[in-house]
Amino acid sequence: LKLDTLLVGFGNIGQNLASVLLRDADYLRKNFDLEIQVVGAVETDPKGEFHSVCSENGVDLKTLLEIKRRTKTISSYPVAGGHRTSQDLIRNSGAQLMLESTPTNLQDGQPGLSHIKSALEGGMSVVTSNKGPLLFDLKGLRKAAEEGHVGFKYSAAVAGALPIIPTGYYSLAGCRVSSIEGILNGTCNFILTQMAERGTTMEQALAQAQQMGIAETNPKLDIQGYDTAFKLLVAVNSIMNADLKISDVKVSGIEHVTQEMIQQARGKGCLLKLIGRAAKADGQVEMKVGLEEVNSEHPFYSVNGIWKAVLFNTELLGEVVLSGGKSNPQLAAGAMVRDIVNLIQDTQPTRKTG
Ligand SMILES: NC(=O)c1ccc[n+]([C@@H]2O[C@H](COP(=O)([O-])OP(=O)(O)OC[C@H]3O[C@@H](n4cnc5c(N)ncnc54)[C@H](OP(=O)(O)O)[C@@H]3O)[C@@H](O)[C@H]2O)c1
Repeated sequence: LKLDTLLVGFGNIGQNLASVLLRDADYLRKNFDLEIQVVGAVETDPKGEFHSVCSENGVDLKTLLEIKRRTKTISSYPVAGGHRTSQDLIRNSGAQLMLESTPTNLQDGQPGLSHIKSALEGGMSVVTSNKGPLLFDLKGLRKAAEEGHVGFKYSAAVAGALPIIPTGYYSLAGCRVSSIEGILNGTCNFILTQMAERGTTMEQALAQAQQMGIAETNPKLDIQGYDTAFKLLVAVNSIMNADLKISDVKVSGIEHVTQEMIQQARGKGCLLKLIGRAAKADGQVEMKVGLEEVNSEHPFYSVNGIWKAVLFNTELLGEVVLSGGKSNPQLAAGAMVRDIVNLIQDTQPTRKTG
């Protein structure tokens, strides 16, 4: 199967994805009979101007990556598409698949939301790493995919390397997920672990996380619990058949944690963890994010440092726990490749796995 593919956004993720597609081309062909032919790529520069390349015979990813590395833009690729916009390429490239990795916008989900909508409505399948659009109109986007008979996958946007969405969608299908709880933010878990193990203050642990490149320069959304809430919200709306908004979630973070609180929990044989929790009660899903004391019997007790974990409670399979590590552009690109393979497995279920 040959899939003509469009790359929308060519930053960290876009470039890592292109590298994996280049490196693993033979592997994907051999194991899945899948050929991803990139027929277009588009990015913006700091002035907001578009740069694009397109070629119906395929863009050479090695050259594209080299040019981007050397010149910081794709505009000097030999068959450049000039200043054609993302929307122009989405509407006119004839691609069957869009790989979307533009920046997350928490104000209105744009430009990713319009990109994904246009692609799905135009009959193109979509894989994205961008959670902005999912926070604003996941329901509408899933409906557009269904009506257009195309695929729509976004596991990279929800703690990418930890396969929360695919586990809920495939492995727990039909098993009646009654609750999901998770440690979903590596920065917060690192800070709480440092405080417990080294006796540091919140501020010292945060400064160390920033020094080590674990925490964002502006870690507010992590520390206040919102990053956890966003990830859990998308997971819950996808897996528990809910339609919650961020305003439905009670969110608190770790900014007020003190050594006294850590020691108090310790005295009871517990650790403090920032946990996002969603559970069904009377047919409704309720969600909250906040600090919880976890005792040594709980699977999250040993989830420390930057590690994350999720626990599903299901009626048919009981408890299922997944744990995994850090988020970075390589792993998020890997999650997008998984989504591409899952897309074709959805439509051609007898394909091999590998
Ligand atoms: N990095 C990670 O580890 C990670 C992990 C999981 C998920 N994600 C998500 O994946 C997405 C991409 O992340 P990233 O790290 O690759 O970000 P990035 O390095 O900022 O790359 C995004 C690229 O998209 C460009 N862009 C902006 N508007 C565009 C448009 N309308 N059309 C085409 N390109 C456009 C940006 O250009 P400008 O710089 O000019 O705006 C930038 O080059 C984000 O939503 C992020 O939250 C990232």
